[in-house]
Amino acid sequence: MKIAMVGSGYVGLVSGACFADFGHDVVCIDKDQSKIDRLHEGVMPIYEPGLDALVESNVKAGRLSFTTSLAEGIKGAAAVFIAVGTPSRRGDGHADLSFVYAVAREVGESLANDAVIVTKSTVPVGTGDEVERIIRDTGTAQKFSVVSNPEFLREGAAIGDFKRPDRIVIGAEDEFGREVMREVYRPLFLNESPILFTSRRSSELIKYAANAFLATKITFINEMADLCEKVGANVQDVSRGIGMDNRIGSKFLHAGPGYGGSCFPKDTLALLKTAEDYDSPTRIVEAVVKTNESRKRAMGRKVLDALGGADKARGKKAALLGLTFKPNTDDMRDSPSIAIAQTLTDAGVEVSAYDPEGMEQARPLMPHVTMCDDPYSAIAGAEAIAIVTEWDAFRALDLMRVKELASAPVLVDLRNIYSPEDVRAAGFIYASIGRN
Ligand SMILES: NC(=O)c1ccc[n+]([C@@H]2O[C@H](COP(=O)([O-])OP(=O)(O)OC[C@H]3O[C@@H](n4cnc5c(N)ncnc54)[C@H](O)[C@@H]3O)[C@@H](O)[C@H]2O)c1
Repeated sequence: MKIAMVGSGYVGLVSGACFADFGHDVVCIDKDQSKIDRLHEGVMPIYEPGLDALVESNVKAGRLSFTTSLAEGIKGAAAVFIAVGTPSRRGDGHADLSFVYAVAREVGESLANDAVIVTKSTVPVGTGDEVERIIRDTGTAQKFSVVSNPEFLREGAAIGDFKRPDRIVIGAEDEFGREVMREVYRPLFLNESPILFTSRRSSELIKYAANAFLATKITFINEMADLCEKVGANVQDVSRGIGMDNRIGSKFLHAGPGYGGSCFPKDTLALLKTAEDYDSPTRIVEAVVKTNESRKRAMGRKVLDALGGADKARGKKAALLGLTFKPNTDDMRDSPSIAIAQTLTDAGVEVSAYDPEGMEQARPLMPHVTMCDDPYSAIAGAEAIAIVTEWDAFRALDLMRVKELASAPVLVDLRNIYSPEDVRAAGFIYASIGRN
């Protein structure tokens, strides 16, 4: 089956490469000429473990190609996926659907055969109806159906998630749409990945409800962590104790500096806007968004405390280890490190940082931070060292070397990757999240 993927970013490229690996004939389309040029040269636009090898083998096998021409790319495709960005709209927090609608228009104008148009981008309820209207208004003579198929992959584990999903959600309004989607995902049926057919609107809402629920879990355990610090409890034990209950589950119960990334912040905001538009308030999600937002700067203040408080921190040096919103990605979108670095520089602290993959993306977002070649150069001369992202590279730092490089350092472990006893035994002052 021929599949066209419009938008070759995180989701489009990973999905396209995986579909090709399943044996489909895939064309990835992007309007960004330099991205397509680099893909032709085998250079990945993002850091994602295993992606370069997957792309290379499928290009070699002749199942995966790239183009900037949408009209060429969708020719003969039975399924045309829309996987462009849906960022927060400046000013009001609604999902910006201009990229999705622009693609819908172009697809309608170029469609040369019957096809199912599949929205993989995360889009608010009702977007599928609008995509359908836009395509119909182009006057296309081809038979088409608009389907919702949200993506649940996680950055850093994207290929595994795509190939072995917990479930595949398909929101279709007619048999043509369902039939083509069954064929698209047939290789996964064989792997026994559960597939859930719903209406288009339910499918669109499932994606937002899932992300809002996960963001709520994270925010809940973060608040429990704050309480643990106050009452002398250990959040890791609390987390284990509640997570062993099957009704709760252990995932997304790791206390930390607040959620970030390309999805949770914008998707929770967009859900609030949808709820507002339909006069159906989602108070829990409102609280989650507010709590998470204020947590990021609070983490910056935690590092300031390690430097003796905001009024004594001016002129001192702090090191940030890890900048991306999570490990194994170079994605800096809405990473807590941005607010932490800003809080520190606002207080006159000199900040140095190291991240294994994210420094290029981070540089323009934190122009006053000195980016270093390795963790030890970042640590040199620092009085506070904050672990912001739990990259493996930071799990076994040579603490003796750190002590030689830094002057009476305080280790602020915002990911709880060290044992307080070990770090204190090595002569450090140690602060973490929800543990004393
Ligand atoms: N990143 C994730 O982990 C993730 C996970 C699940 C869902 N999503 C959703 O998937 C969607 C895409 O996210 P992403 O992270 O892949 O975005 P991205 O910014 O990495 O990629 C989007 C791509 O679309 C291209 N594009 C924009 N307009 C175009 C057009 N008219 N024609 C062709 N190409 C065009 C851009 O050049 C860009 O390369 C979003 O709605 C996002 O919420 C993302």
